[in-house]
Amino acid sequence: MPFDFLEYRRHRGSGAIGTAVVYLEESGSTMDDARAGAVAGGAPGTAYVAGTQTAGRGRLGRAWQAPPRGLYVTFHLRPTDAATVPLYSVAGALAVSDAVRVVANRGTEVKWPNDLLAGGRKLAGILAESTIGDRIDVFLGIGVNVGAQQFPPEVAALATTIEDASGSAPSNEVLLAALSSALERHVSTLTSSPAALVDEWRSRLVTLGRRVRLAAVGGVVHEGEAVDVTSSGELVLRLDDGSRASFAAGDVTMA
Ligand code: BTN
Repeated sequence: MPFDFLEYRRHRGSGAIGTAVVYLEESGSTMDDARAGAVAGGAPGTAYVAGTQTAGRGRLGRAWQAPPRGLYVTFHLRPTDAATVPLYSVAGALAVSDAVRVVANRGTEVKWPNDLLAGGRKLAGILAESTIGDRIDVFLGIGVNVGAQQFPPEVAALATTIEDASGSAPSNEVLLAALSSALERHVSTLTSSPAALVDEWRSRLVTLGRRVRLAAVGGVVHEGEAVDVTSSGELVLRLDDGSRASFAAGDVTMA
């Protein structure tokens, strides 16, 4: 489905994020489009969008299926402080949650680290990659399930779409406009006050206060109560032996 740039511009607010949109009907991965765009001198704030992806990637080295009627976008962002880089995926999760509220009038749940759920099923995923050298580039990839679709059997019980969750599907142009504005706001908070962004995330995370199983990278499973997140986004568990441990990555299942 082609991208209607006029429709997008009609809906978008001000701000650098999303000023430019690079659209491909089909891409391998918008993560790679954004990286190539950055190398070629593309302006930070540019949104690289694809109608479908043939090699979409998810967290922890997984593949991300990208059937038509989803929104697949990577924002190229240029932080000035390397310490804030781990929090860009937090800004992304809060932004998608806000955008879904605006365009579909539907609340969502933010699950650590940055999955967006509706009714306990995954509605959107976020993948942040970065390069840190003379300058810092963050590539914030966001995949949103928008229109109703037949998921493969292995994910059908775990995934949902905006249409299934709210009764109708926004256009990708309207959703991207809302997402760009919300991201502008959260990145601005991140830049001026990272602690305020973490506070907001903490207040919205459905994971906190719950008993969880966390499969850490490498496969070791930890069980305990999720009690907090750190200033850099790690999840703090109170383990069954009473000790506390923080995790920067992993898969959480809530009891
Ligand atoms: C996850 O939940 O594992 C994160 C999924 C991130 C998917 C998006 S779709 C747009 C961008 N391009 C990719 O290849 N991945 C991200």
